[in-house]
Amino acid sequence: MLAQRMEKVQPSATLKITALARQLKAQGAPVVNWAAGEPDFDTPEPIKQAALAAIREGFTKYTPTTGIPELKEAIARRLKEDRGLIYEPAQIAVTCGAKHALYNLLQVLVDPGQEVLIPSPYWVSYPEMVRLAGGVPVEVRTSPQNGFQIQARELEPLITAQTAGLILNSPCNPTGTVLSRATLSAVACLMRERGKWIISDEIYSALTFDGAFTSVPSLGADVYAKTFLVDGVSKAYAMTGWRIGFMAGSAEVVEAAGRLQDHSTSNPSSISQRAALAALTQDQDFVRQMAREFAARRDRLVEGLKKIPRLSWVKPSGAFYCFVDVSQTGLASNAFCERLLKEVHVAAIPGESFGWDTHVRLSFAASQAQIEEGLARLDRFVRSL
Ligand SMILES: Cc1ncc(COP(=O)(O)O)c(C=O)c1O
Repeated sequence: MLAQRMEKVQPSATLKITALARQLKAQGAPVVNWAAGEPDFDTPEPIKQAALAAIREGFTKYTPTTGIPELKEAIARRLKEDRGLIYEPAQIAVTCGAKHALYNLLQVLVDPGQEVLIPSPYWVSYPEMVRLAGGVPVEVRTSPQNGFQIQARELEPLITAQTAGLILNSPCNPTGTVLSRATLSAVACLMRERGKWIISDEIYSALTFDGAFTSVPSLGADVYAKTFLVDGVSKAYAMTGWRIGFMAGSAEVVEAAGRLQDHSTSNPSSISQRAALAALTQDQDFVRQMAREFAARRDRLVEGLKKIPRLSWVKPSGAFYCFVDVSQTGLASNAFCERLLKEVHVAAIPGESFGWDTHVRLSFAASQAQIEEGLARLDRFVRSL
């Protein structure tokens, strides 16, 4: 009964662990949640107030499909102020979360059978979205020895006549790696020479801890022309449930993505658009404060991990994840996470979901107290193996 395209799409491999964690919690187990993919902060009050005002005013009808003009202008202003990038409103489309922007871009950029390069470890949805567009995901392995920085010389042999483009994600989910300017320049130069596009998923850009974040389209006019930037308010403003993301890039492609949106979701929620407008135009101190808190938690987590035997990791420089190599424990990622949850009640995500079965993803979108408690339990668990 199901259409063929669904045969290739995998269920989310993280569901098993999160369902088990929920079940244990419901039974009263004191679960430490290191599995979260979202900030544990509440959406700031002025943003909520803007949404309430929108409802009271009756701003509750359809809007233009790719967003209200004020929001596009606010996005353009932020991109200019924060990253020095110039985009016209016609180059911006507001979507139902960054995920939707990625999905729509792949739908309008990938022809059946075309290949899309994806550095691994990768965010779970990239390969599935490529398959849903009829494309073929091609994994580009990175390595902890290089700090998970993608190497242009390793990317080069994978570029073929079938290659459509490359998806970059810095800061990265699940490694927390921030790609250096040198890495990005080398990779972008290669893709430009070969005439391929780049989708740059910069959803964690506001959460960069050690030094500068480089936005891919800022690398030069020719890179800008062939890069599609994806971002949104989900992570930076603790607004994952509001579902507002955006894409920015060439007007031609953005227009096509808008046409696709016309016949699928139409506009993102009018109320959420007003909330996002408030988020982007308010004092940005909230974002900086949240980033500082995540950096402190990262430091605490990494200090604690150093005392636990048989684990290794690359210190994350952004997002809120640490990708830990557990292969020295003798367990693969699913078995490790299942036993960690059942035996000491710590929820973490198996690396297999990100293409790396030797690793697990620990999220530090958890309070300092939860981090301390989780470290003590992880230590006990690893020593018991
Ligand atoms: C790398 C990456 N890109 C995109 C998204 C999706 O963001 P949104 O919630 O705005 O759709 C996520 C969410 O976890 C993510 O980790």
